[in-house]
Amino acid sequence: TDFPKTFPQDFLWGGATAANQIEGAFDIDGKGLTTAEVVKKATDRKTFTMSSVTKDSIQAAIADPGVANYPKRRGIDFYHHYEEDIKLFSEMGFKAFRLSIAWARIFPTGLEETPNEKGLAFYDKVFATCKKYNIEPVVTISHYEMPLELTLKYNGWASREVIQHFTRYTKVLFERYRGIVKYWMTFNEINAASMGFGGTGAIDAELSEKEMLNLRYQALHHQFIASALAVKQLHELDSNAKIGCMLARMQTYPATPDPADVRAAQANDQFNLFFTDVQVRGQYPNFMNRFFKEHEITLDFAPEDTTILAEGKVDYLSFSYYMSTISSAKDTTDQALGNFALGQPNPYLETSDWGWQIDPIGLRIALNEMWDRYQVPLFIVENGLGALDELTSDGKIHDDYRINYLRKHIEQMKLAIGDGVELMGYTTWGPIDLISASTSEMSKRYGFIYVDQDDEGNGTLKRIRKDSFYWYQQVIASNGENL
Ligand code: BG6
Repeated sequence: TDFPKTFPQDFLWGGATAANQIEGAFDIDGKGLTTAEVVKKATDRKTFTMSSVTKDSIQAAIADPGVANYPKRRGIDFYHHYEEDIKLFSEMGFKAFRLSIAWARIFPTGLEETPNEKGLAFYDKVFATCKKYNIEPVVTISHYEMPLELTLKYNGWASREVIQHFTRYTKVLFERYRGIVKYWMTFNEINAASMGFGGTGAIDAELSEKEMLNLRYQALHHQFIASALAVKQLHELDSNAKIGCMLARMQTYPATPDPADVRAAQANDQFNLFFTDVQVRGQYPNFMNRFFKEHEITLDFAPEDTTILAEGKVDYLSFSYYMSTISSAKDTTDQALGNFALGQPNPYLETSDWGWQIDPIGLRIALNEMWDRYQVPLFIVENGLGALDELTSDGKIHDDYRINYLRKHIEQMKLAIGDGVELMGYTTWGPIDLISASTSEMSKRYGFIYVDQDDEGNGTLKRIRKDSFYWYQQVIASNGENL
């Protein structure tokens, strides 16, 4: 037998980002305003501001042309630093760089018939730079943003109309980057659709609960269809490329061995895997019928939808993993534990500066569970520690806490590979400090590379290698042996 296994030779080590959290340059070269760029900076560390957008807050955002209140408009100016940044990734030995394309750079309102050449030219240059350093681009087609005009005109994914505009966008990408991009994924953390605006681009904050749920699950259904159509389209246009789905994985444990708690945890876990059930298996799982019934959700299914889903099964399953959660049958008063992790605190786990529960063994459990369930290659496309870093007087950042976090997770990945899990790669979240998705803070740093910018946008934007930079470099050089 080939046990104990270790990382395969072609393992995709790297880092992951999103356009709206790094690019900046939000209004140049023809780019349109996006849904991410109307979300205000949070006033505290717990509020998920991406969900609380209203018609009025959007109008106020449109009237405000600045970047001060909307940090995702400025990012870390990757738009003008991409050469330097990708060079730094290559210095660490990256095999893969996950990034997303801003739909509104390619179709500024989403409605145009022909793409914006200047937008495409930017990604041409980014991919050419990746190629120069032998780095595989791993591309998310929609990462928590869409052209704002699609929200104004259709209320985002709530409308089926958006599917055709998305399909026009994906066709342009697949044709332009045939032979250049080998790994695609459709929607970042597709389960975020159940959290509202950030995922769906649909304004729903002022609806009744029943209306809101109906809208969110209908929007999600449209995303499932759009995603399945993109899978089919890519397979037809570029048979060498692979396309995956992307889930925010929340591993759930029972609060006690009481069978009622075990069942509560199972139900939560099933709910988390519902999204990948649709995208990997090509149909809605039966257990969702109860959820839809109990919440009075009625989905509009077009006659062709069942076939579209069945024909649009993904090639691999990618996911983010930051934390686990616990469920109890008795105490259902969930607390917010992370971006959209609801659950209860686990006394066995430590938490990050932002209260996220750190659980490396949970990653091994998640990998095994998903491999057993789906038998498709898995790809960890986000994992990491958001922390307050200090630039010390020696001009360095001694982030041993980040190294410890990542080391423990990589150890568990290796064990999971020994368990027989097929794992394609690992791209840590935010290899370079970027704007936080949930709070738009800059001070929540994930990077191996420090960016000199504060929460107000002050700073030189200088890039500085942290201690973890050199550590990750040796991890990759030893293919995960030297941790
Ligand atoms: C994931 C998102 O939920 O978590 C990323 O895909 C995000 O966009 C990451 O940045 C970390 O979350 P946050 O809120 O700390 O930026």
